[in-house]
Amino acid sequence: SVGREGNSLSSTCDTLGFLQKNNSLEERGKLSGSKNLLSCDNSDRDARYRHNETDFSNLFARDLLPALTWSYLTSLNPWSRFWWTAGTRSNMAYAQVTHASSTSYLLVWTSLAWQESGLHPLQTPTCKFTYEIAPVFVLMEQLTLKKMREMIGWPNGEGDGLFSPGGAISNMYSVMIARYKYFPEVKTKGMSAAPRLVLFTSEHSHYSIKKAGAALGFGTENVILLSTDERGRVIPADLEAKIIDAKQKGCVPLFVNATGGSTVYGAFDPINEIADICEKYNLWANSVTWNPHKMMGVPLQCSAILVRDKGILAGCNSMCAGYLFQPDKQYDVTYDTGDKAIQCGRHVDIFKFWLMWKAKGTIGFEQHIDKCLDLSQYLYNKIKNREGYEMVFNGEPQHTNVCFWYLPQSLRGMPDGDERREKLHRVAPKIKAMMMESGTTMVGYQPQGNKVNFFRMVISNPAATQSDIDFLIDEIERLGHDL
Ligand SMILES: *Cc1c(COP(=O)(O)O)cnc(C)c1O
Ligand SMILES: *[C@@H]1O[C@H](CO)[C@@H](O)[C@H](O)[C@H]1NC(C)=O
Repeated sequence: SVGREGNSLSSTCDTLGFLQKNNSLEERGKLSGSKNLLSCDNSDRDARYRHNETDFSNLFARDLLPALTWSYLTSLNPWSRFWWTAGTRSNMAYAQVTHASSTSYLLVWTSLAWQESGLHPLQTPTCKFTYEIAPVFVLMEQLTLKKMREMIGWPNGEGDGLFSPGGAISNMYSVMIARYKYFPEVKTKGMSAAPRLVLFTSEHSHYSIKKAGAALGFGTENVILLSTDERGRVIPADLEAKIIDAKQKGCVPLFVNATGGSTVYGAFDPINEIADICEKYNLWANSVTWNPHKMMGVPLQCSAILVRDKGILAGCNSMCAGYLFQPDKQYDVTYDTGDKAIQCGRHVDIFKFWLMWKAKGTIGFEQHIDKCLDLSQYLYNKIKNREGYEMVFNGEPQHTNVCFWYLPQSLRGMPDGDERREKLHRVAPKIKAMMMESGTTMVGYQPQGNKVNFFRMVISNPAATQSDIDFLIDEIERLGHDL
């Protein structure tokens, strides 16, 4: 019944606008017909729980169902157009839910339910530390990681890997294992056992490498940013120059990070050239972070760190806790993959990914991503020569990111200069705010380097259509034309 109520609400929202309709949290709290459920006020319930309530159906109907209904009704509605064209990556988890036609999603949600409830028909672990606790999931993870390494192109899919809670953590793993490879004594003696180490990443890279630098004790000043060309790709000559410069300053270059599909422009760094420079100067370029919870549409969280060197994850991270990882078990203890992780208990992220791969096949994933690429090309072709639009960089986008400025009538023909820049800088935030107020759609924006705020539309939802793209452009023009 939650679903049915939700659907009828959704059709109203589509015309009225979600934010218009229930703007204040208090009002939204009242939607469920009771007091504000956001307040977490369960003092009265605490008393009841102390009485060891055992009638769970009553508990569900009385306390949990209203809370669930309330949170459902007051969350952004993933079935509305709002999400179909939403252009920021953060809403991807929702965007994928809209792809309801595919049975794989049903399977995924079923599998999540199994995991969470412990009702899995074969076994009931909700986390995996050791093989004996989750044998099938451990094998699933090993096979899938091998398949991923094969697709990257590593001979016979050889190597190692691990699923982690996200790309930021996978990137952190890559920095940790690089450091372990060259300075293993840091594991026991700490950073004072190593010289001053520096990491390199693109000025366009995701902030996770910088964060890893801070978290792992390198210091953000030792994360050196590489210059990019006009399309946002790392310039290999700049890397080489900065490696030489760091060495002259007495630092030890350790690690270079390259990106396939950068956060803002969707740029692909020249990975082969970068790898050649790494080989020449003996730097780390031996791992790949792959996030199936991005373009592939696997529900959060699902990210893998893949490494060419076997055994290095275990070397770097294992603590050999006696209560879990006994060396004298009757099976091959290399299947106890838990000690490679920096976590202890781990969620079984592999299951949903494995099921989706079974259901869609490699071809299904390919079609899904091609559809997003086609849509972004449609958007690019539609606006590249359209009056009032300027592209942030020339040429077709390398991925599904389309970055552009919209110029209201008043800015067209204005000569380039500070006044125009200042005005243009305010356009995208204003249009986005008006979109949110009218509850129709959303698209992300940001500045980059010396470029003022531009729209960054990332298409990651294969259920979107050309008419959704048309709608987005119509909305930008409707709201922005007279600014
Ligand atoms: C999303 C993203 C990350 C971070 O991944 P999370 O899974 O959100 O931790 C890192 N790098 C790039 C290029 C990304 O797009
Ligand atoms: C490098 O960082 C980017 C984020 O900019 C990430 O997408 C990529 O996978 C990283 N590579 C490795 C090996 O950590």
